[in-house]
Amino acid sequence: MASKILNMLGITAMMLFTFGCSQQGNKNTKMAPPSKYEKQIDSLISLMTLEEKTKLLHASSSFTSGGVERLHIPELTMSDGPHGVRMEHGRDWEFDNVTNDSATYLPTGITLASTWNKQLGYKYGTVLGSEANERGKDIILGPGVCIIRSPLNGRNFEYLAEDPYLAGEMAAGYIKGVQSQGIAACVKHYAANNQETKRGSVDAIVSERALQEIYLPAFGHAIKEGKVLSIMTAYNKVNGQYCAENQYLIDSVLHDQFDFKGLSMSDWGGVHSTKATLLHGVDIEMGTELADGTRKNPNYNDFFLANPLIKLVKEHPEYEKYVDEKVRRILYVMFSVHKFDNERPKGYRNTEEHHVLARKVAEEGIVLLKNENNILPLGDNVKTIAVIGDNATVKHAAQGGSSQVKAQYEVTPLEGIKKLLGDKYKIIYARGYEPNKKGTSSPKLIKEALAAARKADVVIYIGGWLHNLPGHVWDQYRFDAEGKDKAAYEFPYDQAGLIDQLAKIKPTVTVVFGGSFAKYDKWVDDSKAILFVGYPGMEGGTALAEIISGKANPSGKLTFTVAKELKDYPSHSIGEFPGDSTVEYKEGIFVGYRYFDTEGKETMFPFGHGLSYTTFDFGDVKMDKKEFSPSETVKFSIDVTNNGDYDGAEVVQVYVSDPSAKVKRPAKELKAFEKVFLKKGETKSVSFELNKDAFSYWDPETKAWTVDPGKFEILVGNSSADIRQKAEITIK
Ligand code: GLC
Repeated sequence: MASKILNMLGITAMMLFTFGCSQQGNKNTKMAPPSKYEKQIDSLISLMTLEEKTKLLHASSSFTSGGVERLHIPELTMSDGPHGVRMEHGRDWEFDNVTNDSATYLPTGITLASTWNKQLGYKYGTVLGSEANERGKDIILGPGVCIIRSPLNGRNFEYLAEDPYLAGEMAAGYIKGVQSQGIAACVKHYAANNQETKRGSVDAIVSERALQEIYLPAFGHAIKEGKVLSIMTAYNKVNGQYCAENQYLIDSVLHDQFDFKGLSMSDWGGVHSTKATLLHGVDIEMGTELADGTRKNPNYNDFFLANPLIKLVKEHPEYEKYVDEKVRRILYVMFSVHKFDNERPKGYRNTEEHHVLARKVAEEGIVLLKNENNILPLGDNVKTIAVIGDNATVKHAAQGGSSQVKAQYEVTPLEGIKKLLGDKYKIIYARGYEPNKKGTSSPKLIKEALAAARKADVVIYIGGWLHNLPGHVWDQYRFDAEGKDKAAYEFPYDQAGLIDQLAKIKPTVTVVFGGSFAKYDKWVDDSKAILFVGYPGMEGGTALAEIISGKANPSGKLTFTVAKELKDYPSHSIGEFPGDSTVEYKEGIFVGYRYFDTEGKETMFPFGHGLSYTTFDFGDVKMDKKEFSPSETVKFSIDVTNNGDYDGAEVVQVYVSDPSAKVKRPAKELKAFEKVFLKKGETKSVSFELNKDAFSYWDPETKAWTVDPGKFEILVGNSSADIRQKAEITIK
């Protein structure tokens, strides 16, 4: 610690001397405007040699970059992942296997987003940021905001939604929370990384309108609203250029259109050139791959942005200004995360408060898709519960790829149900199926499960997806995992058949784990209730038990459309998925409900859908004006009443429709939402304000955001398919 303070005193003294500026440490941990550090950055750059500047532009170990001893410029230290600080492995790639690197295993992105609760996103980020800080990290590599284009994408569980507005809003809260702890978030993977198949080379062919309206806005919101300090480019190409050197994505959009002041880094091993990356690519080359793909310690001076860059700049001195621009952004982030002062707040890990937050997110992120005859919450007529399914006892934390977490503990559904309900009900368990390399069902386990069902009054089936076979984090036995997409839109091990047999014996509540759902099958009709839990984190079992018992009232909403068949998805019927060397996004902007609603296609469960144990009534939309000019805003409010028997929460969703546009636009687009908590009988007024952005589209001709004057509709509901109130507004 002493050396750190001496370091800082050294550098501060040097900078004060250099330009005599008395710069107070950054008291609040909000990101300061660039001008705050410009003088110090200028003076540092003026002291650096080309070799020293270049050191900041590439990895110095598996998860560190930079470091210039002579000038007391420390390294930047990073860590995965989006829902918990990954286990420690120091400077190489093998895990240290120490016992002091467990962390709070938060619900994954899909469950966080299913809460539709922006404030919870902020709290989630503060927990993650505090834990990363306590573990000595400067940058936490999350959130992942890639749009859910197909249910087969292996990393949907890490991501947020099919809708860019929802993804952007939830990401902004998360980022502000992380950065309130004095460290940087890193929004990823920029951009159009919507599949894992051939992720390192596939070229996503995406129209500019689809990029601007669907695949880029969540990143733009992370920057403009979230003030994110870093961004990670994706492995793939977009329209012919690798993301890490993509002139449109990095120069035109990131730096010009989004005015991004933070640093950009490649994904690990995602840089493929020196000159293109220097002139219009990422600031930092990360990665530990050797040419032969092994992950042993490479010579980091061989990286594209290391010695080859020095050589190139020595041959073209005019290129040094590109080096300086990158160094400037990197130093800006370093100042912002207090690498040169000791203003960073103290970090904490595995506190009771953090674990309670993890449970809160799970409670609010679990989605009640169906509840026939109000079978939930379980009534007094139930005496025996048969809990059936392998996912009742699986611990998911350490699986799934780089987002893996060594959870301090993980309450499984069976543990949660036994702990909360074991005194009131007799709980019996049967595994029902066993994950295996052949993907088959087990007649023995089926027989045991049916026998258990016969002895019970109700079946709680807990199944769906899993990350990978235990211990098979990186091989072909993966499902919701990095580096591989799902092979089919149906649960493995013939779970559909098992669920349906159970549902024919006793009333069955089906609980689905996963980053996506599955195709329609009879079990969907025959289950009395269905809950989608995503991956609900270390307290997921507790939260599930609370929902089943009625101790918590579900308030989650789907962040993606559940179609009946894979071919119903436009990315499979119009566009390509997963393509081959290229993947054509021929569906354009018509992704998810933007397609299903516009084409009037039936879905199994619509975007934004989620039931409660109570009911809500929506009053009229009260507008502050009937028409407005693009330079004004329109304000409106709506009264929401809890007219049922339970305290609960509703998500008021505001969609905009533009029937008079001169281009084809989706039937509706989400442009605002607010979660409102109401005691039974309570009414609250929920207010919104929209500006022209909410009514605009990207005009492919003028290559600019455009709003066509005319009549628009404001649609307010609690799902994209359940619009309760409408209002008209005219833009002059
Ligand atoms: C991985 C992932 C990225 C992760 C990085 C470091 O390949 O794509 O999300 O942050 O490498 O592990």
